Amino acid sequence: MTGRGSVMFTVSVPATSANVGAGFDSLGLALSMHNVFTFEACDTVDITSVDGTHVPAGANNLVYRSARAVYDQLGIPLRGLKITQRNDIPMARGLGSSSACIVAGILGANALLGDKLTKRQMLTLATAIEGHPDNVAPAMLGGFVTSVYDEGQVYTVKKNIDEQLAFAAFVPNFRLLTAKARAALPQMVSHKDAVYNLSRAALATAAFCDGDYGLLGVATKDALHQQYRLPLIPGGDELFEFALDLGALAVYISGAGPTIMAVVRRGDTAFFERAKAGLPTSEKMKNFTVYRLLPDNIGATVE
Ligand code: HSE
Repeated sequence: MTGRGSVMFTVSVPATSANVGAGFDSLGLALSMHNVFTFEACDTVDITSVDGTHVPAGANNLVYRSARAVYDQLGIPLRGLKITQRNDIPMARGLGSSSACIVAGILGANALLGDKLTKRQMLTLATAIEGHPDNVAPAMLGGFVTSVYDEGQVYTVKKNIDEQLAFAAFVPNFRLLTAKARAALPQMVSHKDAVYNLSRAALATAAFCDGDYGLLGVATKDALHQQYRLPLIPGGDELFEFALDLGALAVYISGAGPTIMAVVRRGDTAFFERAKAGLPTSEKMKNFTVYRLLPDNIGATVE
């Protein structure tokens, strides 16, 4: 056995909503829904789900693979780990469930090994596993995070999300794998579309930082991914219209989808009441459930 012997660590990681419209592979924010994991040193691979969700129980488990990356980076042999998972974040819905597993595995292993890696090193490792930083960065840091992955290094700025905002996650009962949603994107984009997005991603960041939420409607529009992904999300177009009609400040595809996210004012309880009442009455949107989520400005915790 390695590290602190029989000590058990509990790691909690928030759900995340990446892209925020125009900020493809760069912007992301953390929300009040969490997966919780425990880690103990063990000579075998012992992985269980405590909530009935199916999770791979072998060495191919994403949490375990991510933990192993820490051992590998530190040159420490790994024979096994005892891991439990409680998955509140729905899988393959664009709410960062994979990132939560990656961040948890890294934080759990680092705690077991005596906190040898810095947060930046862990974030870089998480990004290398995920491929882009826009979910893993807010999962680790909390808040609204802008990230750049440059030559193997991650650069981030985190800003707390205004507690006066709430997020309406319209989660469908079907999954969309990120690989499929990325395969739908064009290989080449026009200069015009690139400018469309970079100007809006900058505006969205400034709007969140300044509290100028009236800008979010324009700032979260996108020309790089949403139009290609909406055909993979039955009811998605209707939800954009529905949420905007109910008074959302902004509506965007959360991560790679299929969840549609609306940004609203926290005091706007009528939005949620009307959304809950309206969804089941629509043939196209009845497969979606709306969740009221709040900002998570803390990020992943280890205890
Ligand atoms: N930025 C990513 C995408 C998020 O849109 O594909 C999903 O992992």
